[in-house]
Amino acid sequence: MTRTHDPFPLDRAARIAVFASGRGSNLVSLLEAFPPNGSLGAVAVVVVNVPDATAAERARAAGVPVASIPWTRSECDRTTFEARADACLIEHGIDLICLAGFMRILSPAFTQRWEGRILNVHPSLLPRHRGLHPQRRALEAGDDRSGCTIHFVDAGVDTGRVVLQHEVAIAPDDDEASLASRILAEEHRAYPEAVRRLLRGEIAVTAVDRS
Ligand code: GRF
Repeated sequence: MTRTHDPFPLDRAARIAVFASGRGSNLVSLLEAFPPNGSLGAVAVVVVNVPDATAAERARAAGVPVASIPWTRSECDRTTFEARADACLIEHGIDLICLAGFMRILSPAFTQRWEGRILNVHPSLLPRHRGLHPQRRALEAGDDRSGCTIHFVDAGVDTGRVVLQHEVAIAPDDDEASLASRILAEEHRAYPEAVRRLLRGEIAVTAVDRS
């Protein structure tokens, strides 16, 4: 029989996996908000697809396990990555995935399995400027405001339902670097806030349970 339910709140601390590819500053904001002994949620594992990503060092420094699962264009295809990631998520009993600067597109099958339990951060006010270089495109378009969006991940690229947005005004003398840096500061506030709201059950998810 088909029934609907929301996965959160849980009656225990949620176990969070963060997927990252690079610098890992959003990872750090999530680690600070959801440390290993966090009562609402705890980052339990960090998955990196680039073995020497700074994000991996940052996770290790926080005492959080790192799963390094290579996925470059030539090295390892998506199917292999997702099979290994699935095994890792089961091993760590993960309830929620946070993509944080994860520069790969997950398959529709994967995002559907995690429907309502996978979030991403994007440095624009979605639906404006989906995809790469959104800060540059905001400037080129002459926008007077930008910001960041925390959204559920679905089968599209930056198309999932919006959970939370933080706005940033664009100044006449902004360049890509200055705008990206102000948006990033908002990302670091918005992502933990969105996860907190989701874990408290304040965001309707209405996942479908087909079991
Ligand atoms: C952030 O701007 C994020 O929105 C985008 O990639 C960047 C990752 O930065 N998807 P970091 O690795 O979290 O520092």
